[in-house]
Amino acid sequence: MLLLLPLLSLLSILSLGSAYSTLSDDTLNGLPSPGDEFDIKQGKILAPILQERVSGTPGSTAVLQHFVDFFKTNLPKWTLEFHNSSSTTPTSNGKKIPFINLIATRDPPNTGVGEVGRLTLVAHYDSKLTPKGFIGATDSAAPCAMLLHAARTLDAALTKKWESSDGLDELDEVKGVQILLLDGEEAFHSWTDTDSLYGSRALAADWETSFHPAMSTYRNPLDSISLFVLLDLLGASGPRVPSYFKTTHWAYKHMAALEHRLRELGQFKSSPNHPKKLAKRQNKKERDEPQFLHEADKGDNGFLGGFVQDDHVPFMARGVEILHIIPTPFPKVWHEIEDDAEHLDMDTVEDWTRLVTAFAGEWMELEGFFDFKKDKRKEYREKTEL
Ligand SMILES: *[C@@H]1O[C@H](CO)[C@@H](O)[C@H](O)[C@H]1NC(C)=O
Ligand SMILES: [Zn+2]
Repeated sequence: MLLLLPLLSLLSILSLGSAYSTLSDDTLNGLPSPGDEFDIKQGKILAPILQERVSGTPGSTAVLQHFVDFFKTNLPKWTLEFHNSSSTTPTSNGKKIPFINLIATRDPPNTGVGEVGRLTLVAHYDSKLTPKGFIGATDSAAPCAMLLHAARTLDAALTKKWESSDGLDELDEVKGVQILLLDGEEAFHSWTDTDSLYGSRALAADWETSFHPAMSTYRNPLDSISLFVLLDLLGASGPRVPSYFKTTHWAYKHMAALEHRLRELGQFKSSPNHPKKLAKRQNKKERDEPQFLHEADKGDNGFLGGFVQDDHVPFMARGVEILHIIPTPFPKVWHEIEDDAEHLDMDTVEDWTRLVTAFAGEWMELEGFFDFKKDKRKEYREKTEL
């Protein structure tokens, strides 16, 4: 009977599913701001995305190249892959348009394909053909920028975790991170099942039949996705993001709890009670604190409402677990020419970046592996050496 005990506890650990562990206040306070890099005119990360980038056009190629350059320069440990497909569209006069998804992956060292479960962070980078000159700042230039910045913040901590002896416990699930920058989300004429989601439909279909070696933990790359976190239409002020799916409400609650903590810590720049705003206000009374993720308390019976058609659909149809971070209602500028750089609320963009980064940090169990002070010193050294 005694022998059974360790066995039982082993089983219960394995059956817990994804481990998740909270970040400390110090870590949350230390998460770096995008600062200059999100400047809409000069910012190294965001500005190059803020251009027309309709699938198959030179703008799309330029933005894709920007992503590749960003990873190659800043994140050499990430593996980059293109996923290419092509399709005619209602406006292409029978011509095939190329759709190119970019997949950036960071797995723990010495892990086989098929052994790693990945937190998958997703946004689409194409912009809509109409109205003429449409930039799609919230749709989804800003979400792409958030993901690049998050990847860079997580990178050094992942290295440190995987180099440390306690970073890779045998009982641990083997966890990696993946970023999908998808092409062809927008309809060319009007949204239908075939005129939309060009890149994600092709990717989900291909991944379904890309089998990992027999006996792998995960059957194919779809099965390797532990959670598909899709960001869309983010960057306008005052977003309200419901919890769309019962099966991932637990993950939504984790993100909502982080948002609450970041607000309490004064780390949410868009908050009406941010220390800088309070200092400027004559009347120092705190205002009602908003919450982007406002449905943490939703009960099991609350999941009746509709959901939004987006890049997760082809993945969800194949059984992938989805956390959809998209506001309802959509931003006022949605699919209007006004969805441009000038209409972004940069405090909100920054807050989303911090929140998504923190969520990924908790998912990847990175507490204790961030070293912001050292990073800052390094940055300073690099700047002064130039
Ligand atoms: C996919 O597209 C990329 C970017 O245009 C290109 O560099 C690459 O060669 C293509 N891959 C294949 C297999 O066609
Ligand atoms: Zn759109």
